[in-house]
Amino acid sequence: MDLALKDKVALITGGASGLGRATAEQMASEGVRLMIADVNERLLEETRSRLAGAGATVEALRLDVRDMAACRSAVTQTLARFGVLDILVNSAGVGGPMSFFAQTDPEQWEDLIAINLVGVINCCRAVTDHMTQRGYGKIVSIASEAGKANEKRMVVYGATKGGVISLTRGLAAELGRYSVNVNAVCPGVTRTPMTAYIDDEMEKQASKFYPLGRLGQPEDIAPMITFLASDRASWITGQAISVSGGFGRS
Ligand SMILES: NC(=O)c1ccc[n+]([C@@H]2O[C@H](COP(=O)([O-])OP(=O)(O)OC[C@H]3O[C@@H](n4cnc5c(N)ncnc54)[C@H](O)[C@@H]3O)[C@@H](O)[C@H]2O)c1
Repeated sequence: MDLALKDKVALITGGASGLGRATAEQMASEGVRLMIADVNERLLEETRSRLAGAGATVEALRLDVRDMAACRSAVTQTLARFGVLDILVNSAGVGGPMSFFAQTDPEQWEDLIAINLVGVINCCRAVTDHMTQRGYGKIVSIASEAGKANEKRMVVYGATKGGVISLTRGLAAELGRYSVNVNAVCPGVTRTPMTAYIDDEMEKQASKFYPLGRLGQPEDIAPMITFLASDRASWITGQAISVSGGFGRS
């Protein structure tokens, strides 16, 4: 299937690593022009030069999604470089402390909420003026299975992802009239730098909870993000789609 993404322009937050980087690679293979944005400047430059070396049209900018002004500036810079912005992928995020809630304190939640939830809200707000004026846009946010059912020892992380799912549904309701599609992808546990703490034994145990018998790889998630960012998904909006080896079935 031709996704008809050639020459579209995507801003990908968290684009330097993991799912954001895999999405950048997948989209580049479809001919999407990329602005990858991340707080980690070293990884950002590494990813930019790898993508450019493979023939992608790609720019990179340092962005801390906690900063609304910086999010607006990222959109302005993308428009200055490419003239339009078709796609926003919200992949910037951090993992939780993996502790029982009763053993955590506010300093362990502040960044989780500021990055995983407020950061997504900031980036969505930063693109809405352009997308609604143009009458076109695709927003895909990476939520999580934890945002649907939540889990022990990651309660606030799950709450931020539940917030992203709710934001997705509300924004889809508001922005549909402007032909802006807003969706979330909900991965199960996927092997990225965020889950580097998982050793072989943990992976073996965790895989038992997955009907397909394994954890995810970034390449399992990026195709769904890319599809949702395409016009082939133009009648899909307000959805939180699990890509999780059958872990979540709601
Ligand atoms: N890996 C998993 O198992 C999994 C499962 C479900 C959901 N997710 C979600 O997928 C998204 C991507 O995670 P990943 O696994 O690729 O992790 P990752 O650590 O490989 O990538 C996250 C990226 O976000 C960037 N980032 C962190 N804080 C930022 C900020 N304030 N501003 C801008 N960039 C920032 C990091 O520098 C990093 O490059 C996250 O939202 C995560 O919660 C991951």
